[in-house]
Amino acid sequence: MNMIKFGSTNMQVPQIALGCMRLTDLDSQRAEKYIQSAMEFGYTFFDHADIYGDGKCEEIFSTAIHMNDDVREKVIIQSKCGIRPGIAYDFSKEHILRSVDGSLGRLKTDYLDILLLHRPDALFIPQEVAEAFDILYNSGKVKYFGVSNQNPTQIKLLQKYTSHKLQANQLQFGIGHCQMVSSGIHVNMTGTQALNNDGSVLDYCRLEDITVQAWSPFQYGFFEGVFLGSERFPLLNEVINRLANSYGVTNTAIAIAWIMRHPANIQPIVGSVNPQRLMDITKACDFMLTREEWYEIYMAAGNTLP
Ligand SMILES: NC(=O)c1ccc[n+]([C@@H]2O[C@H](COP(=O)([O-])OP(=O)(O)OC[C@H]3O[C@@H](n4cnc5c(N)ncnc54)[C@H](OP(=O)(O)O)[C@@H]3O)[C@@H](O)[C@H]2O)c1
Repeated sequence: MNMIKFGSTNMQVPQIALGCMRLTDLDSQRAEKYIQSAMEFGYTFFDHADIYGDGKCEEIFSTAIHMNDDVREKVIIQSKCGIRPGIAYDFSKEHILRSVDGSLGRLKTDYLDILLLHRPDALFIPQEVAEAFDILYNSGKVKYFGVSNQNPTQIKLLQKYTSHKLQANQLQFGIGHCQMVSSGIHVNMTGTQALNNDGSVLDYCRLEDITVQAWSPFQYGFFEGVFLGSERFPLLNEVINRLANSYGVTNTAIAIAWIMRHPANIQPIVGSVNPQRLMDITKACDFMLTREEWYEIYMAAGNTLP
């Protein structure tokens, strides 16, 4: 497993993180085996959210890992808050504090290594979030803070009021969803690939030493499906399969190697609950795609160059 520096901290973290959103797919016995295998493969960075499985994913995780002080020291736990099903989004101080307490209880731990704000709340008041962060940090409940699905201006607005450096931004990214790369390639051109929907967030995060975490790296669209093996992407699969053969890895590893070839040290958050797939994915750490191969995959996904 590759290690990368997390944001501007001195913390080294596994480059590939395990997303825990789908843990409710597993019964308790399979969940225990799955987490145990994941740890053996080097997945020690776990991404949660208060809403995953309506809180059940955090519970399943802490039971499966047999959470205690010894175990806690060996893992990095990140959770998120700010989405309230049935309401929408809530970055109020009360909600953030209540949500973290809920996560800590379900995860059976005293602290989160990282707390992310899940999705922008249009009604957020940065001073209020800053107060919540201070309380959480000073009480030892959260070590580091970050955001998810935010553009540079939103990050700057919050950063203006909090002394806690925002260390991560979790965004959808992969070869099936790579607008944040293609808009950079198509600067000042016309056409949909030139659309800058995110305020050049990838470059901004690199400038500010914010770790970009890539959620749903195997999906295309907004949970429309997995591009690997999909009839919708014949050329992409042909190229990926050929490269998989030549590197002696699976197509899954090539899809993750494509993300990790980008020099921003992007941290893919993978969500498979299949231990074999998790092992296959780690092979992406053993080689680096060439520049030519990276662009070939990019084009095979239907992207063009100006
Ligand atoms: N911040 C946000 O807004 C946000 C949004 C969504 C997700 N997330 C985070 O991102 C994590 C990953 O999301 P995700 O689960 O959608 O990501 P993913 O890794 O792209 O997708 C995993 C899903 O794809 C399936 N799959 C089918 N064929 C596959 C193949 N060849 N290779 C890999 N997977 C294949 C997996 O099935 P098997 O289990 O059978 O392998 C699993 O159901 C989540 O757990 C969560 O932590 C964050």
